[in-house]
Amino acid sequence: MVLAALFLLNACTGSGVSDDAPSKAILESGRVLYAASCQSCHGDQQGIGRLALAPYHGPDGHTWHHADGQLLEIILDGTKVLLESLGLPPSDLEMPHFRGELAREETLAVLSYIKTWWTQEQREAQAENSRRWQEANAP
Ligand code: HEC
Repeated sequence: MVLAALFLLNACTGSGVSDDAPSKAILESGRVLYAASCQSCHGDQQGIGRLALAPYHGPDGHTWHHADGQLLEIILDGTKVLLESLGLPPSDLEMPHFRGELAREETLAVLSYIKTWWTQEQREAQAENSRRWQEANAP
């Protein structure tokens, strides 16, 4: 029991991404921010309007395979640094970085909004993946 409580406590700290269901206000601000800053490249919930090189974030996409920590890094720092660290050449269409443009809370709100597109199973699998990532990358 104590161990379970500790585990839960641990899971909720660190990345700043809470396991609690986000409030309606957070999801609404995430929706508005997504439409303003992301949709022009990534398309809407169905991927409509998406540019060829920008991945679809919905349930048939790849995004839910990434842990919260990785997604936050990608959104805040873009993919240029990531591609370089993997020794990959720059992409023709670059994912811009939003550090300095979106506050951390805003980035989390966008992420919470995108998660509403995933299935329950995907959300659970991604939450577990996020916990493992957090443990492996804890300072
Ligand atoms: C100018 C176009 C553009 C905009 C605007 C943009 N992105 Fe991207 N994004 C991309 C491209 C292109 C990639 C793929 C990069 C690559 O493979 O090198 C990408 C990749 C990503 C990934 C990794 C996806 C995955 O499935 O692996 C995430 C997450 C992401 N973007 C989120 C966002 C969010 C959230 C916003 C808005 C705050 C946003 N992007 C705005 C072009 C864009």
